[in-house]
Amino acid sequence: MYYIGIDLGTSALKTLLMDSEGAVLNIASREYPLEFPHPGWSQQKPEDWQQAVFACIPELTRDIDRSKIAGIGVGGQMHGLVVLDESDAIIRPAILWNDGRTAKETDYLNNKIGKDKLSEWTGNIAFAGFTAPKLLWMRNNEPENFKKIAKIMLPKDYIAYLLTGVHSTDFSDASGMLLLDVKNRRWSQPMLDICGISETQMPKLFESYDVVGTLTPAVAKALGLPESVKVCAGAGDNAAAAVGTGTVGEGRCNISIGTSGTVFISNCAFSVDSHNALHAFAHSDGNYHLMGCMLSAGSCSKWWMEDILESKDYKGLEAPITDDKLGVNHVFFLPYLMGERSPHNDPAARGTFIGMTMDTSRADMTQAVLEGVAFAIRDSVEVAKALGIQIDRSKMCGGGAKSRLWKKMFANILNLEIDTITSEEGPGLGGAMLAAVACGEYASVEEITEKMVHVNATVKPDPEIAARYEAQYQKFVKIYPTVKALFPLIG
Ligand code: XUL
Repeated sequence: MYYIGIDLGTSALKTLLMDSEGAVLNIASREYPLEFPHPGWSQQKPEDWQQAVFACIPELTRDIDRSKIAGIGVGGQMHGLVVLDESDAIIRPAILWNDGRTAKETDYLNNKIGKDKLSEWTGNIAFAGFTAPKLLWMRNNEPENFKKIAKIMLPKDYIAYLLTGVHSTDFSDASGMLLLDVKNRRWSQPMLDICGISETQMPKLFESYDVVGTLTPAVAKALGLPESVKVCAGAGDNAAAAVGTGTVGEGRCNISIGTSGTVFISNCAFSVDSHNALHAFAHSDGNYHLMGCMLSAGSCSKWWMEDILESKDYKGLEAPITDDKLGVNHVFFLPYLMGERSPHNDPAARGTFIGMTMDTSRADMTQAVLEGVAFAIRDSVEVAKALGIQIDRSKMCGGGAKSRLWKKMFANILNLEIDTITSEEGPGLGGAMLAAVACGEYASVEEITEKMVHVNATVKPDPEIAARYEAQYQKFVKIYPTVKALFPLIG
C-alpha cells in the first residue's frame, strides 16, 4: 500500500509518497507567501495551504496505481490560530507560531494569571506564539471577528478538515495551544474560561495515529483518490519529524532546522521543566516530550544568503569557511529576527551582529549567522542538561541538515554526535508513517520507526574545534543579557 505524508511548513507545503516498507517514491511541493503586516507579526492564508494541497497530491500520485493509496497524515507548523465561522468559512488569516503581536496578552497570562497556575493547568507557561494569547489578542483587538468564532483549530487540522469534513486535532499539536491539560490529555477548563471560549468551539482530540475520517466524495474526486483513503489526526511538525527520525520512546533527541529550530527530547513519562523554559508537550507516539524552540533558524540563513547577499548559492557562500576558521570568528550574530522563544521568551529581541572590524569579510558574517543559530540551539540543550537530561547524540533533520558545514558546526558547538537519516523530510515522512500505523500496517509508532528509520551518516565533534567553540559559546551567552534592554527602545 501507499501512504501520503504532508508537511504543512511555513514557507512551503511538501508532500511525500511512501510505500509500506518506508521507501520515499515521490515528492511534490508548492511555496506560498508569508505576510508580515507589522514588524514581528506573521500570518498566512489558509486558502493558500488548500491550493497547495490540491495541486501537490495529484502531481505526487500521477504515476502510481491510486487505488493502492491507503492513508494520509499531516505534520504541520504548530500553534497557528485558524478560526472558522458557523459555516466553516475562514474568519481571518491564520496568526502563525512566529508571530510576536501578543506581548501584552502573554504578559497578562504569565504575570496576572500567573506562571504557576498556567503550569499546573497545562504543563507550560505562555509564549507569544502560543494559541491562547492569540485568542485573547483577537478578543481585545478584533471583537467582531472573535464573536464569529465557531471552531478553533491548528493549521494541519484545517487540512484534515478539508479532506474529511471532521474538526479534529491531536495531542502533540494541541499541547502548543496552552489550552490543553497536557498530562491528562484533555482540554483545560480554566484556560478555556480565561480565553472566553467553550469546549464546543474546540476540535475533537485524537492520538496522532488515530483515524479521524475518510475523504469526502467531493475531495476524493478532486484529488483522483479512492473515497476509502483514511486520514489520521497527524501531529505538530516537530512531533511528526521526531517520528520520521525515530525519536520516540525514552531519552532520544532530534534537532530540526527548518524555518524554526527545535531541540526535541522524547520521554515516556510526563515531566515539566521547573522553569518552563522548555515546552512539556504530548508526543505523537502516545508518550511525551520536552522541546526548546528558536523562532528563526533556517530562516536566518535564508534571510542572510537570499535577501541580503542576494544569492541562492549556499554552497559557494559557505566554501571559504574552512575547518581552521571554525571557532575563531570575531563576529557574533544573535539570531532573533522574529524575537525569541526558548529560552529567552522575548518577542522584542532582534537580530544583532556584533564584533565587526575593517577586515571583517562577507564569509565571517555568513559564518556568524550559521554559528549564531547553533549557539542558540545550544542554549536549549543547556537547559535540558541542567534538568539532568543526558544527551550523547542527536538526529538532525530539516533544510539545515543538508549543509555539511552547518552540521559540523552543530556537532562541535553542542559537542554531540549528529546523525542524519536517508531523508531530511522529517515531518512529511513522519506524517506518512503515522498514516501507516493508523491504517493498521504497523502495530505502533515505535514498531514502524524500528523497521524504517536507519542512520546513514554521522558527524562527530573534533576535540580541537569543540574546545575553540566552547570558548566562543561562553562569549555568545553574554551578548543577549547585555543588549536585551535596548531591543524595546529600538522597536
Ligand atoms: C514549535 C514551533 C515551530 C513550528 C514551526 O513550537 O513553534 O517549530 O512548529 O513549524
